[in-house]
Amino acid sequence: MLRILVPGKTGQVGWELQSTLAPLGTVIALDRSGMDLANPDSIRRAIRDAKPEVLINAAAYNNVDKAESEPELAMRVNGVAPGIMAEEAKRLGAILIHYSTDYVFDGELDRPYNEDDAPNPVSGYGRSKLAGEQAIRESSATHLIFRTSWVYAARGHNFLRTILKLARERSELRIVDDQIGAPTWARAIAEMTAQALGPNGIDLDRAREKTGLYHLTAGGAVSWFGFAGAILAEAKGTLGKDLPRLIPIPTSEYPLPARRPANSRLDTSKLTRAFGLTPPNWEAMLTACMQDMQAETGNRK
Ligand SMILES: NC(=O)c1ccc[n+]([C@@H]2O[C@H](COP(=O)([O-])OP(=O)(O)OC[C@H]3O[C@@H](n4cnc5c(N)ncnc54)[C@H](OP(=O)(O)O)[C@@H]3O)[C@@H](O)[C@H]2O)c1
Repeated sequence: MLRILVPGKTGQVGWELQSTLAPLGTVIALDRSGMDLANPDSIRRAIRDAKPEVLINAAAYNNVDKAESEPELAMRVNGVAPGIMAEEAKRLGAILIHYSTDYVFDGELDRPYNEDDAPNPVSGYGRSKLAGEQAIRESSATHLIFRTSWVYAARGHNFLRTILKLARERSELRIVDDQIGAPTWARAIAEMTAQALGPNGIDLDRAREKTGLYHLTAGGAVSWFGFAGAILAEAKGTLGKDLPRLIPIPTSEYPLPARRPANSRLDTSKLTRAFGLTPPNWEAMLTACMQDMQAETGNRK
């Protein structure tokens, strides 16, 4: 069995990867006590101990607003650690899979971004993630970098869970309507990652041929306001109260420490050409995730 090392096991994508990858190899999933990305020695030690054929970095410093006041830590975790992982992967002849973000772009373009468009991050988080991409690409390790966006899951910190919580507490929600992107379910990211490793199990040679950068998000696009509306439509009847009224607002009425791109749409056609993968639309992913959450709740009752 191939050994697949997954730091970030408590995260949204890391959690989903564990079950998705289990049939494909021996999954060694680590939390930050097993690999601390802020500590180069800890990264090297964990990788040398596990000796994986596939290293999937699902860990990241993801607090976009806090990164404005902790830029050094964000850079260590998102910018420097991926380069160390790449060096170690190269020593072992392993493949490194890494996730990046739509926030490497400034969002000024009026069409979906493709992989050849020049990044221009407008936040400390975006700059740290771009540095991580660059460190991997400069290492010449075999790698797949997947830029994704607006990640949510049944667990963890995400917009979906925040909206469901606020919907139970409030009668009115004011949601930003001038940022658009593709909300992407962590399970779909895990499943597309597994597919990219090979349609019938992991094919290391095939994955090596495909080394490079890919955009991997749900299909379609929506604003945060539109996404909130779709979440509430799915949750209708399960909240135990009337749905709150949704009010669209501009970003200027919801000031946060970090700037966000207005256009977060990523063109995924390179992913389709390389791997034959066509991501499901964001609506289909949302329905599947919420059905899964409701089934889980039902099972616990
Ligand atoms: N979330 C999004 O909306 C979004 C959007 C675009 C791209 N991405 C990218 O997609 C990938 C997966 O994101 P996600 O949403 O699944 O992440 P997440 O749910 O925020 O989880 C992040 C994981 O990283 C771990 N971590 C943070 N600092 C660490 C450190 N110093 N050492 C070791 N582990 C550390 C966390 O551990 P603890 O539980 O101990 O904190 C957690 O397991 C990341 O590369 C992220 O940048 C995410």
